[in-house]
Amino acid sequence: MKDFSSLENLPHYPVMLDQVIKICKPENGGDFIDCTFGAGGYTKALLSFPKTKVLALDRDISAEKYSKKLKNLYKERFSFNISKFSQLNKFIENEKKFDFIIFDLGISSMQIFNLERGFSFNSKNKIDMRMGLNKISAQEVLNNFSLKTLNDIIKYLGEEKESYHISKNIIRERKIKKISSTPDLVRIINKSKKKKFKKKINISTQTFQAIRIFVNKEFTELIHGLITATQAIKAGGKIIVISFHSIEDKIVKFFFSNYSENKSRSSRYYPDFNDVKPLFENYKNKIIRPNEKEIKINNQSRSAKLRFATRSKNNFVYPKEFIKKFQHYIDLEKRNA
Ligand SMILES: C[S@@+](CC[C@H](N)C(=O)[O-])C[C@H]1O[C@@H](n2cnc3c(N)ncnc32)[C@H](O)[C@@H]1O
Repeated sequence: MKDFSSLENLPHYPVMLDQVIKICKPENGGDFIDCTFGAGGYTKALLSFPKTKVLALDRDISAEKYSKKLKNLYKERFSFNISKFSQLNKFIENEKKFDFIIFDLGISSMQIFNLERGFSFNSKNKIDMRMGLNKISAQEVLNNFSLKTLNDIIKYLGEEKESYHISKNIIRERKIKKISSTPDLVRIINKSKKKKFKKKINISTQTFQAIRIFVNKEFTELIHGLITATQAIKAGGKIIVISFHSIEDKIVKFFFSNYSENKSRSSRYYPDFNDVKPLFENYKNKIIRPNEKEIKINNQSRSAKLRFATRSKNNFVYPKEFIKKFQHYIDLEKRNA
């Protein structure tokens, strides 16, 4: 097994890299898509095997600088594009198919720790939260959206029980002074929450996460990204997803298990799609998690869940039931006031 310890020096520590490598076996070569390039941790490791090719995407222009060195080193074996992964199709020439498509969801350490981008509740800057290629910022959402929409965003995307109090206080505060910085929102959340302390997470986490998910349309991206990847992957190829949020994992689990041959259905209440030939085969409905050593090195990895599915030989049929099941998130992420 190769030693990837030098990757620990990257600005973003690649989560569960060993497990990704074990699934992909890049020593045998292969055509890869890295949908979430970030600082290029996965891509760099994959390209270190001589018979691999990687097409990488990231919606954040600041990820581009990490691609430059790899482009110099690997020329024909590597390409990088600024794009959302829902638009993956645009970069695939002549209906070419791939062996592995990887999604490492959420935000990178570079995004969190660049306090000017206002992703973190430790920031003192403008509350922005745009990963890139967005229509609106967090500031516009907080200052212009109705009580109902703010409440729906915080309640359904952040699973925050006290969403109504928080939303009411956002409306009240913005009438006095525009909400412009992260401390403004932290103050409102502190004022609104009954319990001022939570054992495992900061009391602001769920609201910040909800606003970020909305600003970046993260669930819509994931749903369309998975569908697009299913069209772009070869029969026998694998789609690998690392997620950090329970709703994201629910989306991935539903898609893989319900469109799978030996449907290990995650719930007996899920419908049976008799009319659709399974898009995946031998799906095990198993979650892979980081080991203790990794969590010690990189505490951020503790909530990561990896799932992967193998594409079947069956022709692609648009997964209507999948869209239907999660349409409410797509509709919510489309709202604009
Ligand atoms: C967790 S980081 C990935 C880190 C990467 N695996 C590495 O080893 O450096 C997630 C990255 O995905 C990007 N991203 C998130 N959603 C995206 C989307 N819908 N389309 C394209 N890129 C996205 C973010 O901008 C961020 O750079």
